[in-house]
Amino acid sequence: MSRFLIFLLLSTVMLGCSNQEHSDASKRGRDHMQYYGCGSCHTIPGVPGAHATVGPPLDRMGVHTYIAGTLPNSPQHLASWIQHPQQVHPGTAMPELGVTSMDAHDIAQYLEELR
Ligand code: HEC
Repeated sequence: MSRFLIFLLLSTVMLGCSNQEHSDASKRGRDHMQYYGCGSCHTIPGVPGAHATVGPPLDRMGVHTYIAGTLPNSPQHLASWIQHPQQVHPGTAMPELGVTSMDAHDIAQYLEELR
């Protein structure tokens, strides 16, 4: 079995035991990122087809100190950024994508788990 599969299995088991809702939210977040096309600009582990290099890779978003070099990293701030990058950092190359508040929170949940 590949190391990736073992990692997937382990994280599924660990998330499942610690907090079921948590894991459901982040799974939804992963699906939302496919729906909104985040992978056309970002490399995001676990999101099919997300290998682009227009924006920074989101592979270790959970341990970054700042979001886009401006906001201190927290799930709330991450959700704000995903919903309204142009309000947080006017003129940034990341466009407003019409992400709903609920979807943004699920996505933030997934990204904060990338360590
Ligand atoms: C058109 C390209 C594009 C799309 C589509 C896009 N982004 Fe971005 N994203 C960027 C760019 C460029 C940056 C860097 C912005 C900056 O630093 O001002 C960025 C930054 C980010 C950051 C902060 C990264 C860091 O290292 O601090 C996150 C998180 C993020 N994007 C998430 C998303 C999510 C989630 C989606 C889908 C809902 C998305 N992006 C869609 C281009 C894009």
